Amino acid sequence: MLNGKQIVLGVTGGIAAYKAVELLRLLTRGEATVHVIMTRSATEFVTPLTFQTLSMNPVNTELFNLISEREIGHISLADRADLFIIAPATANVIGKLAGGIADDMLTTTVMATRAPVLIAPAMNVNMYQNPLYRENEEKLRRHGFRLVEPARGMLACGWEGEGKFQEPAVIVEEARRALAPQDLAGERFLVTAGPTREEIDPVRFVSNHSSGKMGYAIARAAWRRGAEVALVSGPTCLENPWGIETVRVESAVEMRDAVMARLPACTVVVKAAAVADYRPATRSAGKIKKGAETMVLELEKNPDILAEVGRAKGDRVVVGFAAETGELLENARMKLKEKNVDLMVANDVSQAGAGFNVDTNIAKILHRDGTVEELSLMEKELMAEAILDRVVALRLKMTRGEE
Ligand code: PMT
Repeated sequence: MLNGKQIVLGVTGGIAAYKAVELLRLLTRGEATVHVIMTRSATEFVTPLTFQTLSMNPVNTELFNLISEREIGHISLADRADLFIIAPATANVIGKLAGGIADDMLTTTVMATRAPVLIAPAMNVNMYQNPLYRENEEKLRRHGFRLVEPARGMLACGWEGEGKFQEPAVIVEEARRALAPQDLAGERFLVTAGPTREEIDPVRFVSNHSSGKMGYAIARAAWRRGAEVALVSGPTCLENPWGIETVRVESAVEMRDAVMARLPACTVVVKAAAVADYRPATRSAGKIKKGAETMVLELEKNPDILAEVGRAKGDRVVVGFAAETGELLENARMKLKEKNVDLMVANDVSQAGAGFNVDTNIAKILHRDGTVEELSLMEKELMAEAILDRVVALRLKMTRGEE
């Protein structure tokens, strides 16, 4: 999504300017071409040479620089940009933009661009709460500027509260969203991810190798493409994705309750979680002591969440996953039918690079009409996009009454 994009990064004069260096590194790591514009006060905090070295492009600081104006003047940069990011953005630059002032290289270029503009403010909490500042921010939002909520915490000035520069990784997520097609705007996704844990006693459980990577990738991609997303996640090591309501659960029963409570509000369900089919019939209140040479664990069936969703499907798009180790198509076909889903993403988890706890996957997508599409080895991030392309196409067919 960042790959091949031209991004103009405006850096203004605040202590968080040093964090813009990390932001620049993340953007270039995503293979974006970044052109940095610094205000004069930003150069008091970090030298242009740092940004120039890391971006491998000249840094613009002066509006009236004869050489840079000829080669990469403000109009040329404004036209070239796929996305503008101002990070950190001071109250001053936000006030100038809201007032239509263009008196330096940065504000002039922003004024001349037609690209989306993403602003990551950073300032003292009292400045952030100042009604004048709030009015300016509101005005920018009304005019289509995108604002990244600052974080709360200890500020460089010694105060504590809102106004802290947001994590560069979050700003990158917002940038990817600003660059993504908004073809899922208006959709409300419910995504499940990760394993479930079925407790045997207070220290042991039955579970599986799901890392949550596949489901989280789908949740993030749907959010980037404009959907509202709720993610119901079993225990994983992954961080809650930015912008997404994440509900943490442990067992299949807890996952079922969380899913069914959110089902009425959603338009698309994607069930990537690896739900335990069985749970221990009884849970011991205390740690089970070692004793006999063998022991039998009695299991009882868990609810089949996807089947329940399928029964209450209505006009929702429902996507299931099938994790198999053999007879992939036959089993997936059966699950598609039995669970009443629109698309079944079948992965053979015994294949190298597919399934549990890896960054890639290989899958076949089964449609209700019997069509099967092959998705060869690819990053889960890319597979998520491919699955969402099918959801968009299905939605389109549904609205035209073809499904
Ligand atoms: O999390 P990762 O490490 O990234 O791994 C990704 C994955 C392998 C977990 C994922 O790609 C995947 O295949 N998820 C589904 C795993 C699974 O439980 O498959 P299944 O064939 O047993 O179940 C079929 C479908 O029914 C699934 O959508 C599952 O969520 C659902 N199900 C199953 C059992 C149950 N009791 N309730 C359910 O809802």
